[in-house]
Amino acid sequence: MARFLHLSDLHVVPEGQLVSGRLDTGRLLQEAVDTLRTRLDAIGPLDAILVTGDLSEDGSAESYAIARRELERLGQRMLVVPGNHDGRETFRSAFSDLPEIRPTGLIDWVSDIADTRVIGLDTLIEGKGGGILRAESLAFLDQALAETGGRQVVVALHHPPLRTGIRFMDAIGLENPDALRLVLERHQAPIWVLSGHVHGVYHGLLGRHPVVTAPSCCSAFALDLRQEAPVGFMTGPTGCGLIDTGPGGVWTELPLRHGDGPFAF
Ligand SMILES: [Fe+2]
Repeated sequence: MARFLHLSDLHVVPEGQLVSGRLDTGRLLQEAVDTLRTRLDAIGPLDAILVTGDLSEDGSAESYAIARRELERLGQRMLVVPGNHDGRETFRSAFSDLPEIRPTGLIDWVSDIADTRVIGLDTLIEGKGGGILRAESLAFLDQALAETGGRQVVVALHHPPLRTGIRFMDAIGLENPDALRLVLERHQAPIWVLSGHVHGVYHGLLGRHPVVTAPSCCSAFALDLRQEAPVGFMTGPTGCGLIDTGPGGVWTELPLRHGDGPFAF
């Protein structure tokens, strides 16, 4: 088995800026890391932290420098996939020293850690909120799944292949979840699909494979499924996930803080 802290949607901005005029996301990440550091003795040891996208709000180099500085205080190996707020090339530059990050092309990767194969997929369409798995990524995934050698498998992508029922989030979801399902269906072993994007914990199935989304470190979206639900964000609950990938293992939430709202974007 392998154990990962599953963080998502940090939305870091350059120093002195706020997201939606309200969220000091650099400080919120700093506080999250402070809290997690106090819990590491209780929840450790870990094999890596896995961040499922939207590390930055604006794709700026400065935001990645802040995100990386804070994440490094956890003292763990880092695995990162981009989200819709990320800029592919600035993201790549910020993490170019990680062995998984290729110098060009989509940011798809595979990493074998302990007895677990983690496959990261790039769903970013720059300038858009929604995401897509391109034929190249699906072929990469198929190949990586064909060579697992009996390992546990985690697939990490920012946009989850499920719907929350929150209209403004489903409108910017993954365009082709069925294409992902068709690739996973060719493989017998259970595959954990881990995502972010929806700033909350949602658990579903893609075919027979479990899908779970991590909460964000900085904000949340109210579970208001009405047509006229206000479009906006809550300042919590925030949190992250902890996964043990072994047989009988679990994904569980580590709550960070409560919040209020909704506030306009
Ligand atoms: Fe996102």
